[in-house]
Amino acid sequence: MPQIIAVLDFGSQYTQVIARRVRECNVYSRIYHYATPASELEKDGVCGVILSGGPSSVYSPKAPLPDKAVFDLGVPVLGICFGIQLMGHLLGGKVAPGQQREYGLGTISQDGICPLFKALPESFKVWNSHGDKLISLPEGFEARARTENSEFAAIENASRRFYGIQFHPEVFHTEHGVDIIRNFLMGICGCVGDWSMANYIEASVAAIRQQVGDKHVILGLSGGVDSSVAAALIHKAIGRQLTCVFVDNGLCRKNETAAVEKLFKDNFNMDLRVAKAEDTFLSALAGVTDPEKKRKIIGKVFIDVFDDEVKKIGDVDFLAQGTLYPDVIESVPIENNPASLIKSHHNVGGLPEKMKLKLLEPLRELFKDEVRRLGKELGLPDNVIWRQPFPGPGLAVRCLGEIRKDYLDILREADAILLEVMKAATDKDGKSWYSKVWQSFAVFLPVKTVGVMGDERTYDYVIALRIVESVDAMTADWARVPYDILAKASSRIINEVKGVNRVVFDISSKPPATIEWE
Ligand code: XMP
Repeated sequence: MPQIIAVLDFGSQYTQVIARRVRECNVYSRIYHYATPASELEKDGVCGVILSGGPSSVYSPKAPLPDKAVFDLGVPVLGICFGIQLMGHLLGGKVAPGQQREYGLGTISQDGICPLFKALPESFKVWNSHGDKLISLPEGFEARARTENSEFAAIENASRRFYGIQFHPEVFHTEHGVDIIRNFLMGICGCVGDWSMANYIEASVAAIRQQVGDKHVILGLSGGVDSSVAAALIHKAIGRQLTCVFVDNGLCRKNETAAVEKLFKDNFNMDLRVAKAEDTFLSALAGVTDPEKKRKIIGKVFIDVFDDEVKKIGDVDFLAQGTLYPDVIESVPIENNPASLIKSHHNVGGLPEKMKLKLLEPLRELFKDEVRRLGKELGLPDNVIWRQPFPGPGLAVRCLGEIRKDYLDILREADAILLEVMKAATDKDGKSWYSKVWQSFAVFLPVKTVGVMGDERTYDYVIALRIVESVDAMTADWARVPYDILAKASSRIINEVKGVNRVVFDISSKPPATIEWE
């Protein structure tokens, strides 16, 4: 069992960032609902607690409050932003409603005696975002740092090992933020920092073997990062007790099925079944133009095809999925909490319910960057690990309106050219533009426009290029790629793809547009 740091979530948009920063220090962290009973944390053996920030005021009748017994666990506690106010409020200090929100960069000066700031400069820049502020300290606490606006920017109760900071050490703008977190973990909580991907694989392989026993597992492989890493990990644990199913729905990108077969069947020697179901999907989609209807049909046919494939395998007990930690964490329903508005979406869904299988989700505890590290450790190639996201319904949401095989073939060719161009073009540091952006793809517009080729007039289709930057797909902006890339992609698509005589570039941001066109 690794050492665990509990992050109590009071609804900050940065809660997950705190948890990730802790893991970057090679210490395992877990996010808990703010009101989790202290006894549960004790049972889990946590060796330190971090109280996250949050949008509430401690004086609001709806303020989220922790189980006060958290302060009696005997483990160090670090309160961040709203967390420091909670400490002040619950342990006998005083918090004043802020007249003015302190937001943005400030400078703290610290005394040089607090272990949180060990080996750090006396003064550095920190990121603030709070309304209320602590105005008198609870008993046993001392001020350890101040800003222009606050004499209690950092506080310490050394004997109980309680610490509070008014600013956000987890955000990128705070200088030495990770050092502060590391000081808390290593210097104060006594963590040793042995959470690593190699250890994770070892523990996870043992856990999978124990959970699965001699039973059989199936996994729907999409070729994306998550399902590929899940497949590689489970395969390492139970070999051919795992069967992967790749559904070729006719909506895949060029050469996709062959690439998946080559990697998993040939390289990894997995039991991979490819369900060739192009005709089934395309006939179910024939004549359908409404985007939501298209999605629903694809989801339903996928389940049917997958189910048929599983029946052919025989006795199966487990369905493996590449669910990640951010899909599992439930956002706390707190007033003003922007995080609680963000819903997980776009799930094909319905599989586990229909198939009555037990779930095996070996990536449930990992963030995306950890999944990539795990994939690398398991020997997956970079082109899988660093693959851009691809929607479940595939090219169906990029082939506008009615889906036809001839449209899809045009789209596949154009898309492959754009990807080639994006992968070949590098910036001044040698990084490919494909890896710099969030997504880059072609969209087929069933619109004909007039062109001229040689002496002839043409009347052909339009391809739109969509290249976006984003951090989490919730918002996005069109990427300012060099004109040369657009020029090259456009001229190659028009010259090489029969049926296309015009290429346009999508310059819409999300919101109000979405990343996909449907
Ligand atoms: P939008 O178009 O909503 O896309 O801005 C946000 C992100 O989600 C992906 N996406 C989907 N993924 N099934 C999926 O698995 C879907 O139906 C779907 N629609 C959009 C999209 O590629 C982008 O990364």
